[in-house]
Amino acid sequence: MKKVEAVFRHEKVNEVRDALDAIGIKGMTFSEVKGCGHQKGYTETYRGAKVTIHLRPKIKLETVVDDSLVEKAVATIEEVARTGEIGDGKIFVSPIEQARRIRTGEAGPEIL
Ligand SMILES: Nc1ncnc2c1ncn2[C@@H]1O[C@H](COP(=O)(O)OP(=O)(O)OP(=O)(O)O)[C@@H](O)[C@H]1O
Ligand SMILES: [Mg+2]
Repeated sequence: MKKVEAVFRHEKVNEVRDALDAIGIKGMTFSEVKGCGHQKGYTETYRGAKVTIHLRPKIKLETVVDDSLVEKAVATIEEVARTGEIGDGKIFVSPIEQARRIRTGEAGPEIL
């Protein structure tokens, strides 16, 4: 199992959700977050010092998927969330040790 995390533009949230649904991903979490990448939101000189003054609102998606779905999930998010402009976001993939369904106590990739 892997967690695919993606930070991307607000306006892409419905399209990303629908595209992941279409490739068979069932569970997903979306959050409203703020962050910055290489441009640091943007910077401005304040009393001679360069300070970061902006954290941009973004959407963060987290979905834990079976290993067999990782590549498809990443490719789908990348394709759907890309505009080609700076600030399109990032995708991170990390290993997951355990997944459990609270209702039944079942564990493993079958519950995803
Ligand atoms: N290394 C990182 N770790 C965690 N979150 C990140 C990281 N880089 C970017 N993010 C998140 O992704 C959002 C969008 O990043 P962004 O697309 O601006 O990255 P970038 O490297 O500056 O690429 P670009 O040049 O296309 O803008 C940030 O606002 C932040 O929330
Ligand atoms: Mg950026």
